[in-house]
Amino acid sequence: MPQTVMTIIGTRPEAIKLVPLVLELQRRPQEFKSVVCVTGQHREMLDQVLDAFGIVADHDLNLMAPGQSLGQITARAVAGLTEVCEKDRPDIILVQGDTTTAFCGALVGHYQQIKTGHVEAGLRTGNKFSPFPEEINRRLIGQMADLHFPPTAHAEATLLSEGVCSDDVFLTGNTVIDTLLLTRDRVTQEIPEAAREIQSLTENTRVVLVTGHRRESHGQGFENICNAIRNVADKIADINFIYPVHLNPKVQEPVNRILGNHPRIHLVDPLSYEPFVWLLNQSDIVLTDSGGVQEEAPSFGKPVLVMRDTTERPEGVEAGNAKLVGTCQETIETELIRLLTDPAAYAEMADAQNPYGDGTASRQIADVLASQAVSTKS
Ligand code: UD1
Ligand code: UDP
Repeated sequence: MPQTVMTIIGTRPEAIKLVPLVLELQRRPQEFKSVVCVTGQHREMLDQVLDAFGIVADHDLNLMAPGQSLGQITARAVAGLTEVCEKDRPDIILVQGDTTTAFCGALVGHYQQIKTGHVEAGLRTGNKFSPFPEEINRRLIGQMADLHFPPTAHAEATLLSEGVCSDDVFLTGNTVIDTLLLTRDRVTQEIPEAAREIQSLTENTRVVLVTGHRRESHGQGFENICNAIRNVADKIADINFIYPVHLNPKVQEPVNRILGNHPRIHLVDPLSYEPFVWLLNQSDIVLTDSGGVQEEAPSFGKPVLVMRDTTERPEGVEAGNAKLVGTCQETIETELIRLLTDPAAYAEMADAQNPYGDGTASRQIADVLASQAVSTKS
């Protein structure tokens, strides 16, 4: 009898990182019955990814609502996931990372005593408000999950130091590299259709790719980030900033207000995954607060300035590809100008590295799931 594995997905990064695992489960029907449950915490940005990889959700809670509080998303996700799990009674639940969807999925798994696997386990900053609320989400998921899939040796060591039993910890690499490798060859051979619209912005110029969305930076943080970008664009002529703006209204408002009318700052809608990877490959520098982008950029040898005070991904910083610049306007400007004007400083950070995995994480996770005798939690 194949085991029923319910993969719970809420936001864009969860979809990007769980797509290869869902595809792997679907390829092995004798071992697994794959069920995909989407909470719809994100809508357009989530659908973009699922559509691109041809994944159709079996359940869709359609939770996204503008301006809802963390409490509201949490309450609605727990209620919706409870209903779905009561109906389907999966043998295993899979959650990824540290979003509210992932936290609620693990909580419902625990309440219903369904074995729960945590993909991308063991990431920590040690600061419960940075990133907020993700640091607490992932710590709590770590307490509730039964199977832990850390992406790096560092994350594995963190879990073991917190007392998680080593029998339940499986070092696999990050599934984001599986997805990136699936996509990279395709986009380097042929430019994706949707990227043609922005292709001209990348020609005969250096490109700084910007992404940002973190809750702890809403307000003054985003004002600082935008002012820094605008000042650097005013000072240095031969660069184009390309910024696919996250759909969160708390991000859209300051970004459009401060950066909306500059000839060399191009605000675009969130890009589907293939064109985004293409753009990453065309870029010279990445300015981001994203977790996933911090993991992807080193594979392309792109220096990353991380607009956060902490990171749960120290591997990129240790490898020399990434540098923490926080959300202080002056620091962002100084570091960006240095990379744009000092070839030695640029070369030091532009070495292609990949500390996050070898593209086999999904297969390894599926192998672990296959080896589990399940029905209820141990
Ligand atoms: C969420 C996650 C964060 C993750 C990020 C990835 C939580 C609390 N936050 O943050 O951990 O890193 O996603 O992007 O789990 N919106 C749309 N369309 C979309 C997506 C969002 O309009 O496709 C707007 C909606 O108004 C929505 C708002 O953005 O209410 C905020 O979405 P939400 O999921 O609450 O938070 P994010 O900042 O996206
Ligand atoms: N991404 C994308 N289109 C965009 C911006 C980002 O497909 O316009 C991808 C990116 O390649 C990465 C993921 O989205 O894999 C990161 O998502 P996000 O920054 O929203 O979340 P985080 O990783 O910070 O949780």
